[in-house]
Amino acid sequence: MTTVLLVAGSPSERSRSAALLAAVQQRLRERVVRTDRLALRTLDAEALLQADVGHPDVVEAARRVAEAGAIVVATPVYKAAYSGVLKVFLDVLPQSAFKGKTVLPLATGGSPHHMLALDYALRPVLQSLGARLILPGVYATDAQVVVTPEGAHQLAPELSTRLDDAVDALVAETGAQAAHAGSFAPVPFAQVRCSV
Ligand SMILES: Cc1cc2nc3c(=O)[nH]c(=O)nc-3n(C[C@H](O)[C@H](O)[C@H](O)COP(=O)(O)O)c2cc1C
Repeated sequence: MTTVLLVAGSPSERSRSAALLAAVQQRLRERVVRTDRLALRTLDAEALLQADVGHPDVVEAARRVAEAGAIVVATPVYKAAYSGVLKVFLDVLPQSAFKGKTVLPLATGGSPHHMLALDYALRPVLQSLGARLILPGVYATDAQVVVTPEGAHQLAPELSTRLDDAVDALVAETGAQAAHAGSFAPVPFAQVRCSV
């Protein structure tokens, strides 16, 4: 069964972009898709900054990327681009780390002005790592993602709908990918049709 790796690219513990990721993870679980979650802020900072590709944290993270059939990458917008921790992480991955994989990018930003950062900044990097397909990203402003002090999150209804659509596209793609690879994709119970 395909595993979807969820990569949290914010340095913040209480993170809005991580809330988007959690919402995607919840939707994937409802569709019985296996997920794995990687918070880049927990990786060894020195290893990332010094591009120490032999460090156990980096080796283990690269292994989880390699094992995933699809990747969801969430980042805050920083200075009209994506976060620095995401950049140093992508830099230590092998050049073809995303080869054959479907990628769904997610971002949150303080204002709508930088919503294209996913397309002009992140997309070319994902492409250079060999992604098979980069799905249209989902961008949310801070006003659309409320994170409580306890860490719970509340999403604007319009944003929830866009995430539903993005997860539908991701599941359809990874299912097609798995079928192509000769294994079976998970079928949601509601879609099971019995012979009559
Ligand atoms: C260093 C820094 C730079 C930022 N630069 C931008 C920016 O250029 N454009 C923008 O819309 N928001 C910017 N923001 C706001 C964040 O993108 C926004 O609050 C985001 O939701 C934070 O996500 P996180 O909680 O997952 O870290 C910046 C925030 C920080 C801390």
